Amino acid sequence: MPSFLLKNIGELVSLSPLAEEQRFIHLREDDLGSIKDAWLYCEDGKVVDFGQSPPPESLLNSSSTHQIDAKQGLVLPGFVDSHTHPIFFGNRSNEFKMRLDGVSYQEIAERGGGIMATVRASREASDEQLLAETLKHFKQFLAHGVTTVEAKSGYGLSPDEEIRHLRVLKKAAVQTDQEVKITCLALHAIPKEYASASTYVSAVCEHLLPIVAQDSLADYVDAFIESGYFSAEDCKPYFKKASELGLGIRVHADEFTDASAAEAAADWKAASADHLQFVSETGLKAMSKKGVVACILPGTSLYTAIPFTSGRRLADADCAVAIASDFNPGSCNLENLPMLAILAGLHGKLKSWEVIAGITLVPALSLGLSKQKRALAKSYDADFCIHDFTSLDEWFADFGRKKPREVWLRGVKWGS
Ligand code: NIG
Ligand code: FE
Repeated sequence: MPSFLLKNIGELVSLSPLAEEQRFIHLREDDLGSIKDAWLYCEDGKVVDFGQSPPPESLLNSSSTHQIDAKQGLVLPGFVDSHTHPIFFGNRSNEFKMRLDGVSYQEIAERGGGIMATVRASREASDEQLLAETLKHFKQFLAHGVTTVEAKSGYGLSPDEEIRHLRVLKKAAVQTDQEVKITCLALHAIPKEYASASTYVSAVCEHLLPIVAQDSLADYVDAFIESGYFSAEDCKPYFKKASELGLGIRVHADEFTDASAAEAAADWKAASADHLQFVSETGLKAMSKKGVVACILPGTSLYTAIPFTSGRRLADADCAVAIASDFNPGSCNLENLPMLAILAGLHGKLKSWEVIAGITLVPALSLGLSKQKRALAKSYDADFCIHDFTSLDEWFADFGRKKPREVWLRGVKWGS
């Protein structure tokens, strides 16, 4: 793979101070490692060096180095969306209208809509249809600069259907251009074919998780711990089995009520606890102590008119704060992570630098990738985007409207 020098960068945000320290809390503005009028040199898909213009003569005069003009654009590390539900079929547009007409997300679910409506439609869809839809969503994420994505199953909701969806996800992960981490969200809702949450959990532990581990179908498991869905107690055998099988844990936590989900996430040393509108102080303390990443999902708040999570409260409790889209057909049919992240900053009172870290290094940490991805530090993967703005200020003020001009994955321009 050829080496290249990207020169004439308007502003380079490398995040290298954070990457070097591997520190994810108590963030400061200078953690962005921002350089105005910069250059970036990459070899074999990795960052080798960067600095303020002019680039060293040796690079400018090297005949083996391809020279690329960034035309004063803004260079940011590729974004990480650490919480998405991209594998499903059908749409729930009828529910959006119901919400406008005053019916809540929980009432819609009680009337047979919600997650179970998508489960019914997805069970009818062929593997080819599911694959095509998933790839379409991955492509949309990439167009917004999301070069790493976490993708959950969760619309199969029987051991066999979950396995089918996970196999399709694995295929999609190979076929798409960005890096994908897969999560088995078998405990998304209680399927009515099962008499109780615990009978379903037993079936999942016995017939699904061993195959997930044996065939490497997922990196993580996830559960929706919430009143009306699964309790922390229901999830115990599931998390125990997953841990024994070497699978990581992620949790949908305390979205509508304080369901002690954050405490469970800490007990099970989850990689991430997500949503957290109603997390208790004890839950937050436990998460910070065990290093569970706190992930906020502002899109769900925007799309279903529920409260925004206070990112400030999480950061002030010494939790590392990630921001993700929660892309799904019901509670957030939006793929624009930059727009959602800026929204999270405004409504959750996160600082501008916390917003950037929240969609790069912090979610990378929650996916076990913070030592090789999502900063432009030396020896990190050359995954970055060139944006048509001369500064980070302009990028924020655009509110995610303009997609990146170029997306680069491991030193190769996407689409070239
Ligand atoms: O994260 N909270 C649970 N799951 C999704 C919603 C999925 C759906 O409504 O289809 C979420 O918001
Ligand atoms: Fe979700």
